[in-house]
Amino acid sequence: MEVNVKVLISEEEVKQKICEMAKQISADYAGKELHVVCILKGGVFFMCELVKHITVPVTHDFMSVSSYGDGTVSSGRIKMLKDLDESIEGKDVLIVEDILDTGRTLHHLMELLRTRKPKSLRLCTLLDKPDRRVVEVASDYTGFTIPDLFVVGYGLDYAQNYRNLPYIGVVEMED
Ligand code: PRP
Repeated sequence: MEVNVKVLISEEEVKQKICEMAKQISADYAGKELHVVCILKGGVFFMCELVKHITVPVTHDFMSVSSYGDGTVSSGRIKMLKDLDESIEGKDVLIVEDILDTGRTLHHLMELLRTRKPKSLRLCTLLDKPDRRVVEVASDYTGFTIPDLFVVGYGLDYAQNYRNLPYIGVVEMED
């Protein structure tokens, strides 16, 4: 099977959108310190670009969970691969993630992080696929709302490949 990747959202559009999101976040957190929780692996490309443009003081930490195998369909299972290094108690926490899909991963994560008593907890996702939602999760900051296509790039993978593409692409499979 041959795999083709077609551009869905260009590098320029992604960068522009991330700058706008950073501006909004900086305004909303004015006078505060922001603690970003990046969800590996996919969230790291978006997080790096986003925090470069945030103007309030920012610290960050990483968490790694997995809900998918190497295929294109959610398994519905969530596995904790790496927990945070630092406590989030009393902090203004912003979860940064590449995509909100069925909502299972972020619902589970937000429930977990709420038990750790952050001062506030918000969610920022580059992409949102509302058509696929199984569990209701509200994103506070969303870059692009997209249809139900299998997307790669900017952290998103197909069998661990294509994460490094600087744009959002759609995977097309041909026999
Ligand atoms: C992806 C994505 C989210 C989750 C979203 O991660 O980064 O964490 O799936 O899907 P959901 O809304 O259906 O739960 P994945 O588990 O593929 O791990 P990765 O970031 O390491 O690729």
